[in-house]
Amino acid sequence: MSTRAPAPQAASVPSPPATDLRAADPRAAASAEVASDPSDKVAPTFAAFRDVPRTGVIFVTTEATRRGFSPSAADWCNLGQGMPEAEALPGAPPRISELPIRPGDQEYAPVAGLWELREAIASLYNQLFRRGLPSQYSAENVAISGGGRTALTRVAAAMGHINLGHFLPDYTAYEELLDVFRLFSPIPILLEGERGYAFSAADLRREILGRGLSAVLASNPSNPTGKVIGGEELAQWVAVGRELDCALIFDEFYSHYIWRPDLAAQGGISTAARYVEDVDRDPVVILDGLTKNWRYPGWRVTWTVAPKKVIEAVSSAGSFLDGGGSRPLQRKAIELLTPDATMAETKAIAAEFGKKRQRMLNGLRDLGFTVDLPPEGTFYVWASAQHLPASISDGMSFFRAALDRKVIAVPGDFFDVDPGKRRGGRKSRFRRHLRFSFGPPMAKLETALTRLSEMISETSA
Ligand SMILES: Cc1ncc(COP(=O)(O)O)c(C=O)c1O
Repeated sequence: MSTRAPAPQAASVPSPPATDLRAADPRAAASAEVASDPSDKVAPTFAAFRDVPRTGVIFVTTEATRRGFSPSAADWCNLGQGMPEAEALPGAPPRISELPIRPGDQEYAPVAGLWELREAIASLYNQLFRRGLPSQYSAENVAISGGGRTALTRVAAAMGHINLGHFLPDYTAYEELLDVFRLFSPIPILLEGERGYAFSAADLRREILGRGLSAVLASNPSNPTGKVIGGEELAQWVAVGRELDCALIFDEFYSHYIWRPDLAAQGGISTAARYVEDVDRDPVVILDGLTKNWRYPGWRVTWTVAPKKVIEAVSSAGSFLDGGGSRPLQRKAIELLTPDATMAETKAIAAEFGKKRQRMLNGLRDLGFTVDLPPEGTFYVWASAQHLPASISDGMSFFRAALDRKVIAVPGDFFDVDPGKRRGGRKSRFRRHLRFSFGPPMAKLETALTRLSEMISETSA
């Protein structure tokens, strides 16, 4: 599509004209560049549809594809996509490679998911994180959905006319997600690299009270910064949410990638589920799935763990949004979700990804990158190019130069999420940053670091 149809606006949400956005936002300028590609000139336009912005990963993958990248191109190093290596790892349970489809599997699964899987997930949380606590999760506290973004979309569609706090920077998909329903008002909360992206329970209390928040959404561990709110601090967050009746929506998709030694000592998994007092009263909503923590992103099996009332609401939202997940995959997933299999997978991740984290962190620092916070969780390093030669000292220029060396990373601007594009033309605080994934195997990381080193030494200051 080469023209942008005006998006319908809620009366209370003023938005600058689309043309201004293009001029001000490097990402919009990048998409304008795509639109001026001669091959797009003949593309039909449709008055009914808007140009739906591409998320950061889609943007970088599209740009890379224009230069010859494909997922099967062995000579590319894709440190852009947030995908963990999905092959066997030493010590991990064998990878599942066969899937029976039974006669009943030809039917719809329930929108809230297969009961047996919901039970297995409730039991996993109780056994790993809630032993001895009086309030225990049941299947009614769990809803299954077909992917993390589907789960997030259900939660967003189930919220009322409230103020929802979200952090800057955070996961790129939140930008559209927090705008598309126009049901609630997204309120950005700044995190600062100089403070190591820290945000205490006292900070949370101040924001909830000062801005009238009824919900807060956070990836924890954070994509992209790798910051983890964990241990006693997470317990205090949960207590603040409970006391002020503010829903805490924790996106825990990276909760088994934990590098902070005190949190790793808890068993390698950091989750708010440890600190919930009453599973049906505490306003804690947890999102997780097979995507990263079990390294099966292609299965699209994910879950929401929350008070029963919230599960009813998100399941109702699922009944008009997506209709539920895949039956055979949900049934098979039960095998992966025993405490033993889960802990074996988590230990294997800690061993293998721990080495990759160290290599990536050292490698990027040797190249001249500045790292505000060595990642406490996730498989990303969030690094600033500010001290590199001037022509590659911002995220977008570095990204483009690296593409010429067949290395993909994600420029920092994309994580400065701006739902509804209401922020005007100011430059992003994160325009110097990039996110590098250490999801791919070690050999790929080595190749990428070598190529980037050559690129930097051949770039004049
Ligand atoms: C923070 C975070 N949450 C959720 C997801 C979504 O996962 P899925 O690929 O299952 O939609 C991702 C994926 O990149 C993520 O980074």
